[in-house]
Amino acid sequence: DSIGGHTATGGRRRRVLFFPLPYQGHINPMFQLAGLLHARGFAVTVFHTHFNAPDKSRHPAYDFVPVPVSDCLPEGSSDVFQVTVEHILAVNRACEALFRERLAALLSEDQAARDDVACLVADAHLLTLLDVARGLGVPTLVLRTGSSACLRMFAAFPMLCDKGYQPAQESQLEAPVRELPPYRIRDFPSTTSAYHGVISEVISHIVTAVTTSSGLILNTMDALESGELASLRRDLGVPVFDIGPLHKLSPAASSSLLLQDRGYLEWLDAQAPASVLYVSFGSLASMSAAELVETAWGIANSGHPFLWVLRPGLVRGTSPSEAEAPPLPDGFDDATRWRGVVVSWAPQEEVLAHPAVGMFWTHCGWNSTLESVCAGVPIMARPCFGDQMGNARYVEHVWRTGLTLDGELVRGKVEVAVAALMGPGEPGAGLRRRAQELRSSVAECMAKDGSSCTNVDKLVDHLLTL
Ligand code: UDX
Repeated sequence: DSIGGHTATGGRRRRVLFFPLPYQGHINPMFQLAGLLHARGFAVTVFHTHFNAPDKSRHPAYDFVPVPVSDCLPEGSSDVFQVTVEHILAVNRACEALFRERLAALLSEDQAARDDVACLVADAHLLTLLDVARGLGVPTLVLRTGSSACLRMFAAFPMLCDKGYQPAQESQLEAPVRELPPYRIRDFPSTTSAYHGVISEVISHIVTAVTTSSGLILNTMDALESGELASLRRDLGVPVFDIGPLHKLSPAASSSLLLQDRGYLEWLDAQAPASVLYVSFGSLASMSAAELVETAWGIANSGHPFLWVLRPGLVRGTSPSEAEAPPLPDGFDDATRWRGVVVSWAPQEEVLAHPAVGMFWTHCGWNSTLESVCAGVPIMARPCFGDQMGNARYVEHVWRTGLTLDGELVRGKVEVAVAALMGPGEPGAGLRRRAQELRSSVAECMAKDGSSCTNVDKLVDHLLTL
């Protein structure tokens, strides 16, 4: 169970309340943070929506408080980014009243219960709920699950709009953003989209959530983003705790919403070192049916053994709740028999850490990017939306541990890029070397006196002063 224990009145443990945004890429780091603080002696209460509710049985030591509002995904658009940002605003609105009621009930159990509560840690997307907590006298901290560079860009968003970078013109997408290197205009979340307004609103809520909190927790580390962290510390006016990589530092049980297929791990054991192409686009990214066909043949024609996560709902227009994964093109099975495995969801951290895996074709969600960095696995980036383009830009141009697959998705380009990454010469050799170097630098941050471990101590001290 927990080590030590930070006590409140009557010798009871201090309690941290958590409210994750109900998406896989946000739930994972929030539960990892909860696991880390629980191991440091705090009691844990998790507030959660009905949509994507966590599996309580995996976390028997935590208390759970459901906020079961009508919070289904909006219908009527096939644009996953638009649906997601609108849903985030809807979750805030829908949960406000009931969260206030549930939190007030928890605080009014008795004076000791109120004294026990150190703070609420909520996702940076949940400004309304952070305001509710502060209104009830509960201090708040924010977990921002993306990179420091991304948050820095969000903080600069009004300036970028004033200077005409946003909303962007189609003809300007390749232009560098002088104020925020190494970004180009196309690396920003909204580019030319018609829903610039709603994205600006979400970004402004995130920045307000951070700057009105008693502290910012980031799943990143000095070895990756020292300059970006320094500028956040200078500009935000709140204490910043970079304590990543959370998936390595936390003893948390898996918070996967989908069943992770472990059946092929033996197959992976039988593959040669660094020979396998691992392909996964996270929990939200989508592609057209035609792109799925090109992806399949690109993988098949690469000639490498592969492990491909073909998530239900990956193809636009199909439902994520369908039990069946999208169908593979005719002839794919015969062409790749014995050479590859297709699964609907994988234990990704374990897969990336497996010595047989030689590269990762990813959408560059921040968790996937971090998991790849920690495993020293070079990346083929195919970002889709949100922060993913910016993450891919850092992979290719700052850490130089991967290549981006730009433009139309066609099988020939996939084959060429896989050969470049996996081949014995350059650029593959250099990418592999730098991926290993970066992995070592990140490991130093996780060592006992490394930046992330020291910051966990500082975070614990900070929570006890609130
Ligand atoms: C979303 C956004 O898309 C992303 O850009 C943002 O940074 C976080 O929120 P998602 O698209 O799901 O997240 O990507 P990612 O951040 O990579 O998170 C996916 C998580 O699911 C990872 O922790 C990964 O380990 C896990 N996963 C993925 C599995 O457990 N199994 C799989 O098969 C694939």
